[in-house]
Amino acid sequence: MQAQSVLLLGGTGQVGLKAAEYLLEHTQAALTFASRRKASLPSAISQHQDRINTVQFDVQNTDDLKTQLENTDLVVACVGPSGIIGDQIVLACKELGVPIIDAGGYDPVYASLHEHEKKHSSEVPLIINAGLLPGLSGVFPAYLIQQCSRGADIKSLEVQYVGRDAWSYNSAWDIINGLGDFGHERGFCYLENQQVKREKFSKAGTKAHFPAPIGTASTMLIYAEEIVQLANEHDIQTAKVYGANLGPRAMFVCMIAKIFKMYKNHKTIARAARWLCKASAKDMRKLDPIYAVDVQIKCADKRVHHGQIILEDTYQATGFIIGITAKQLLNNQITKTGPMMLHEAVDANHFIKDLEQAGVVAGLILSKSDNNTKQEAA
Ligand SMILES: NC(=O)c1ccc[n+]([C@@H]2O[C@H](COP(=O)([O-])OP(=O)(O)OC[C@H]3O[C@@H](n4cnc5c(N)ncnc54)[C@H](OP(=O)(O)O)[C@@H]3O)[C@@H](O)[C@H]2O)c1
Repeated sequence: MQAQSVLLLGGTGQVGLKAAEYLLEHTQAALTFASRRKASLPSAISQHQDRINTVQFDVQNTDDLKTQLENTDLVVACVGPSGIIGDQIVLACKELGVPIIDAGGYDPVYASLHEHEKKHSSEVPLIINAGLLPGLSGVFPAYLIQQCSRGADIKSLEVQYVGRDAWSYNSAWDIINGLGDFGHERGFCYLENQQVKREKFSKAGTKAHFPAPIGTASTMLIYAEEIVQLANEHDIQTAKVYGANLGPRAMFVCMIAKIFKMYKNHKTIARAARWLCKASAKDMRKLDPIYAVDVQIKCADKRVHHGQIILEDTYQATGFIIGITAKQLLNNQITKTGPMMLHEAVDANHFIKDLEQAGVVAGLILSKSDNNTKQEAA
């Protein structure tokens, strides 16, 4: 039987290489690494000579992209910045009926795909936002809802995301671009009875408590489309999402970029992205990369369910999350079609198990308390 073929757009980048590593180890698929420039691949990848292939073209050239899509079973897009590449890769896949998993995508691509879907519905999965944030940021809350609250009436959901790394320019560009909620400029906000409500700056901050090496972190309210979806799906009255970049210099750059609305145009996004690259690289001279999610669910019966997941890396974890998604898709474990975010595409429980097996989870803590009595649930 012929091996399934995966076209890895941006396969030579930070996320792409890690996704490839996972796919080479956990599937039999043949990988084509696509980028504009020829790059040497690390030995962990180049040793699989019989399963890899490289190709150079610009994905913004839609004709070249469509030619490459012929005879491809799955596209894994780790190319960026997502805010510049936009929806063209996903739309080409939709047109030619090729499934795609996209590391970026973010809210604008998701919205654009849903618009196109009204005219012509897709027969293949188009998975947007597969990574950590967005990505696991929706899957882990969905996992906790699934694990702890079967049949329970959930009153509120509170989610905290913290992370740090030396961001690539492409990742930094997308981080800055997202600071203005992709044109919506919702400011500090939360969800109440399906309405997005603004919060004053003085009330927008809180603290997240994680085990060492993270400890206590100051976080601020942010908007997360995945959590809005989850809250609406489960009829949750109040949902609050907080986030923080844990590198002090990176956090400062993000704050400046937000205050001065540097997310407004490509020129200022590019400038802030360069600052963020430098600042985050300096942060990482003395710190290690880390990413963590904390979720608290309050139920009508007064039970409180709490969960934390801690990952020791960000790029490796992002690549492995994409790899797991691709493996599940190639194994026909993902049966939905059309545009969807990661948490809509996968079974959260199964996904977290695969993530633990991939060896990137440094901590997974679940607990529940009832009338202030704490007890371990798992
Ligand atoms: N969801 C998440 O949690 C998460 C986390 C991290 C990153 N991301 C997203 O993942 C994407 C990649 O980030 P990264 O940090 O891996 O970036 P990166 O290291 O700079 O890699 C980008 C890759 O894309 C290729 N590329 C860029 N423009 C291209 C074009 N026009 N045509 C063909 N290939 C092109 C690059 O090679 P050439 O320059 O040689 O073309 C490189 O292989 C970004 O959109 C980022 O926002 C998501």
